[in-house]
Amino acid sequence: MVTTEFRIPGSVAIVTGSSSGIGKRIAEQFAADGIDTVVCSREQGNVDPVANEINESDRPGRALPIECDVRDEASVESMVERTVEEFGGLDILVNNAGAAFMVEFDEMSRNAWDTILDINLNGVFNCTHAASDALKDGGGSVVNVSSVRGQEASPNETHYGAAKAAVENFTKSLAHEWAEDDVRVNCVAPGFIATKSAVSAGDVDPAGIDRSAVDRRIGRVEEIADVVEFLVSDAASFVIGEVLTVRGVPTHSEKPER
Ligand SMILES: NC(=O)c1ccc[n+]([C@@H]2O[C@H](COP(=O)([O-])OP(=O)(O)OC[C@H]3O[C@@H](n4cnc5c(N)ncnc54)[C@H](OP(=O)(O)O)[C@@H]3O)[C@@H](O)[C@H]2O)c1
Repeated sequence: MVTTEFRIPGSVAIVTGSSSGIGKRIAEQFAADGIDTVVCSREQGNVDPVANEINESDRPGRALPIECDVRDEASVESMVERTVEEFGGLDILVNNAGAAFMVEFDEMSRNAWDTILDINLNGVFNCTHAASDALKDGGGSVVNVSSVRGQEASPNETHYGAAKAAVENFTKSLAHEWAEDDVRVNCVAPGFIATKSAVSAGDVDPAGIDRSAVDRRIGRVEEIADVVEFLVSDAASFVIGEVLTVRGVPTHSEKPER
C-alpha cells in the first residue's frame, strides 16, 4: 500500500480486468503486499506482460496470468479452479472488469445494452458465484468496482449507469447474506480516473459531450487501489455492504462564507 499500511488477511486474490488501468494497479499493489494475485482479462497477451513484470520485480506476492472473459461462466469457473489449484485457496475477489461507451438511448441497440450489462453486471454475478465456496472457506472479502455514473444521471450511458447502479445494490444485499459466512462485500465507486480508456474518451466524444470539462481533478489509479486495499484489510473489519464513493471535490468549489 502506498500511503498507509494495514494488515490484509489471506494471501490469494483474483482481480478481474487487471491487464490495464485500475485493475492493473490493484494487482501490482496486492503483489507488493505479499498477496498472490491472479491477473485476468480477455486476452492472454494482455495479462502476460503485467504478470511477468510483477514476477520479475522484488514484490513478494506472485502473479498468475489467466485469460478469462467474465461474461462466460465456464471461463470464470475454470479461472477460480486454477487459482485454488495453483495458490491453494482464494481470499479476495475484486470485480473490477468493466467497459463503457457513449450512445444516446434512442440510438442504442439491444446488443449494445446487453453487451454493457453483460460485462459490468453479469460478470460480477459470474465471478462472485464461482468464487463463493472458496471465499467462504476461511472467510474472505469481495470488492466490486462501480462508478459515480451508477449514482447520478448518466446521459448517453444509460446502459452503463444502470449496470453500475445494480452492482451497488447487489453489494449491499449480498453483504447481508454473506455476513454469517464471514465474507465482507463492499464496493468502491470511482469518479473520473486517468486510465488509458477513460482518457482516450476524454476529448469531445461522438455524443458531443466535452468530458475534458469535468470540474474535478482527475483521479489517479493508486487513489482507487488504496481504497480497495483498505476495504479488503483488517482495518475495514466493521465496513460491510458499503459503497465508498471516491471522486475528490469540485475544483471550483468555494469555501462557504462564515
Ligand atoms: N476510469 C474511470 O474513469 C472509471 C470511473 C468509474 C468507474 N470505473 C470502473 O473501473 C473499472 C476499471 O476501469 P478502467 O478505467 O481501469 O478501464 P480499463 O483500463 O479499460 O480496464 C478495463 C479492464 O477490464 C478488462 N476487461 C474488459 N472486458 C472484459 C471481460 N469481458 N472479461 C474480462 N476482462 C475484461 C480489460 O482487459 P482486456 O481488454 O485485456 O480484456 C481491462 O483489463 C471498470 O469497472 C470501470 O467501469 C472507471
